[in-house]
Amino acid sequence: MPNIELTVNGTPRRAEVEGRTLLVELLRDGLGLTGTHVGCDTSQCGACVVIVAGKAVKSCTLLAVQADGESVTTIEGLASGDALHPIQAAFHEHHALQCGFCTPGMIMATVDMIERHDARLDEATIRHELEGNLCRCTGYHNIVKAIQAASDAIAASKSQGVQVDA
Ligand code: FES
Ligand code: FES
Repeated sequence: MPNIELTVNGTPRRAEVEGRTLLVELLRDGLGLTGTHVGCDTSQCGACVVIVAGKAVKSCTLLAVQADGESVTTIEGLASGDALHPIQAAFHEHHALQCGFCTPGMIMATVDMIERHDARLDEATIRHELEGNLCRCTGYHNIVKAIQAASDAIAASKSQGVQVDA
């Protein structure tokens, strides 16, 4: 079986995987990072989104071997100790979740969304960007508000020269 090396949430990891092993299976079953969820078999729900080499990917559509040598960030890698990442804090403050099953994927997609749009996000952009993430509970209204608030907070801290790690 192939041996792979990758950096997960800043820590170098090695794993022996089958060629058919999906990245989400490696994260959840191999590395115990169960914050990344599986909500569908069809690459539609976005519950499994993680950041690979700086870009949001659906980890149910990527083989683990394709992440060999790459840097991977999961929801477990966002907070700094007890301090929530600004996007996590915004989801909390704006009540952007009910069951929470979709939330890790929503938050990881937001990390990438805010990074790519180097400006404060408007509602239309956020709703368009969220087309790859499904939520069965919330109606999206508070999710959109949370993402707007997070993008405002991150833009403000950048303008003050404060670095916010993704
Ligand atoms: S589990 Fe990956 S998109 Fe649904
Ligand atoms: S909060 Fe339940 S699926 Fe989104």
